[in-house]
Amino acid sequence: MFRLPFLILEIVLSIRDHNRAAWDHLATTGYQWTVPVDSATIAEARRGHWHIILSPLKPVPDEWLGQVAGKKILCLASGGGQQGPILAAAGAKVTVFDNSPRQLDQDRLVARRDSLQIETVEGDMADLSIFPDHHFDLIVHPVSNCFVPDVRPVWREAYRVLRSGGALLAGFNNPAVYLFDERAYDEGRLEIRHRLPYSDAELLSPDRQQQRLADGYPLEFSHLLETQLGGQIEAGFALTGFYEDSYPPSPRQPLNDFMPLFLVTRAEKFSRP
Ligand SMILES: C[S@@+](CC[C@H](N)C(=O)[O-])C[C@H]1O[C@@H](n2cnc3c(N)ncnc32)[C@H](O)[C@@H]1O
Repeated sequence: MFRLPFLILEIVLSIRDHNRAAWDHLATTGYQWTVPVDSATIAEARRGHWHIILSPLKPVPDEWLGQVAGKKILCLASGGGQQGPILAAAGAKVTVFDNSPRQLDQDRLVARRDSLQIETVEGDMADLSIFPDHHFDLIVHPVSNCFVPDVRPVWREAYRVLRSGGALLAGFNNPAVYLFDERAYDEGRLEIRHRLPYSDAELLSPDRQQQRLADGYPLEFSHLLETQLGGQIEAGFALTGFYEDSYPPSPRQPLNDFMPLFLVTRAEKFSRP
């Protein structure tokens, strides 16, 4: 009777291991989300000219971030040397948390190169037990919850580690992206194949999962809007901001011509009565 929880734990651990290996690999390839910002960007941020993105193109509105100098900011599943170093250069006390040591290396590289103070912590976004309750003023969470099978623990943990009045800024995929046959999609065709919520771990054939591993690509999961938006509310947050975003036009992203592929939310932690 104890076998099912152990089986589930094993699957979750293997997903995390797979995705750590995949992101460690991607960080050596120059893939867009693994390339750290340059010294000129850091110098500009020190002069007060900066923005961050949590989706491909649109900058996070200034009023969503407010004054960051002196604030404790958690960059959640945000390795790669982008958001963390910029916020540190703008004066924030930054912790970058990520599952991939090579992605965290990119943040350490920028910190060493440009003399920034950045704490880096390796771990799973669904388990922030290393941090005490009410610890951070702000959490920034770029598109990355597509790499965990269940997003609800991520929202619950984010709520716990934020101080009352703190905010969670989160980017995530529109689940519609996962409706389509992957091979056809890569060739520019939209062929509906999958029922949502989609899981690479369950639906990719064993040979394609093996291929994924061999190619070093992470396993992905769609999440229903009920768990993305409703899940934040369920965790105790009040949604206070929302926008959508897209990729730049590309033949490799056919759905992008028809709808925005990314959602970005601002959620605030109010004290429970
Ligand atoms: C698309 S990148 C996002 C980071 C990037 N700085 C950006 O601007 O979008 C996704 C990140 O999520 C991380 N990740 C994947 N699964 C994770 C998990 N279970 N816990 C923490 N981080 C995870 C990856 O290692 C990777 O660095």
